[in-house]
Amino acid sequence: MTHRVALLPGDGVGPEVITEARRAVDALGLSVEWTELPWGSAYWHEHGRMMPPDALETLEAHDAILMGAIGDPSVPDHVSLWGLVLEIRQRLDLWANVRPARLLDGVPCPLAGRTAADVDMLFVRENTEGEYSGIGGRAHRGLGGEVAIESSVFTHEGVERVIRYAFELAADRRGILTSATKSNASRFGYVLWDEIAAGLAAEFPNVRYERVLVDALAARLVRDPAGLDVVVASNLFGDILTDLAAAVQGGMGMAASANLAPGSDRPGLFEPVHGSAPDIAGRGVANPAGAVWSAVLMLEHLGEEDAAGALMSALEHVCREGPRTRDLGGDAGTSEVGGAIVARLG
Ligand code: NAI
Ligand code: MG
Repeated sequence: MTHRVALLPGDGVGPEVITEARRAVDALGLSVEWTELPWGSAYWHEHGRMMPPDALETLEAHDAILMGAIGDPSVPDHVSLWGLVLEIRQRLDLWANVRPARLLDGVPCPLAGRTAADVDMLFVRENTEGEYSGIGGRAHRGLGGEVAIESSVFTHEGVERVIRYAFELAADRRGILTSATKSNASRFGYVLWDEIAAGLAAEFPNVRYERVLVDALAARLVRDPAGLDVVVASNLFGDILTDLAAAVQGGMGMAASANLAPGSDRPGLFEPVHGSAPDIAGRGVANPAGAVWSAVLMLEHLGEEDAAGALMSALEHVCREGPRTRDLGGDAGTSEVGGAIVARLG
């Protein structure tokens, strides 16, 4: 069976890390047909849009999408993000953003005394509504009375499906689900969120459900990551908490994500959590681990469990034994690390 994968290298370090992820997948000997799509900031400069009008149809003709990162200092970030990543997530209704935050052996943890045994969390971020619904507007632009309104949207269906999915994942792991909320200060959206979560908790008696205010949860993530198993959060809270979690698992270069529509046959979008990292782009020093790990999540989604396991083992081996990029305290370049992963697969 041939897997059709749309490849979106994107901007900045995106193409650098995606090259390594693709090389690793190719080394597994599966039948993969890649369609490379040159969308992103350079495309915007040429065509005035981040991707062509029929982009969604193109993507839907694939089994999965593997993406690097989008964003360039020459394009306003809200233009590049809304013109591509957020558009794809919303239009393909990829409502669950699943982000494993596991500290691999050999990767330095910024928290004193913590080892791989202490950091194994799974974040489930709501991915299509909440604070990033895109509803709002600006009036009286440039005048003294200028006003900007950004509305959060929480629908019963949208909240229920993502929390239910998080409960299911927790039931298959250590059986703890932590829900990030802010229902003390935001008394509409998060109160609905809490009510739905509490209702679902009754359906999952084997999962210990807890509701934690997001600010306290941020502190707990640093103080006691071992106490966290699955964390479910809104779009904004999940965005912020997973950068913090990425730092705890060794840095932005390590973190992987899957954008999914569970239960549907729509293609998942797999991407490292990091952005285009303009500060290090073009120098061949970016850590490809998050991109390679995202390819592991993609292979799982494609039903290639054995290949996914082999690639994850190779990544774990290289993290443990080196070579490592600078962000992990080493001095290897992106392609040297990618090459070591491929060599391990050979
Ligand atoms: P960033 O994640 O690109 O960079 C934050 C820090 O992490 C930087 O110091 C960077 O050097 C480091 N870093 C990131 N990836 C790394 C890697 N693979 N190896 C080693 N170090 C790495 O976030 P930032 O700087 O806030 O955003 C840069 C651009 O990326 C912006 O245009 C932003 O809008 C965009 N962005 C795009 C995302 C996406 O495509 N999904 C996600 C986040 C940001
Ligand atoms: Mg983010």
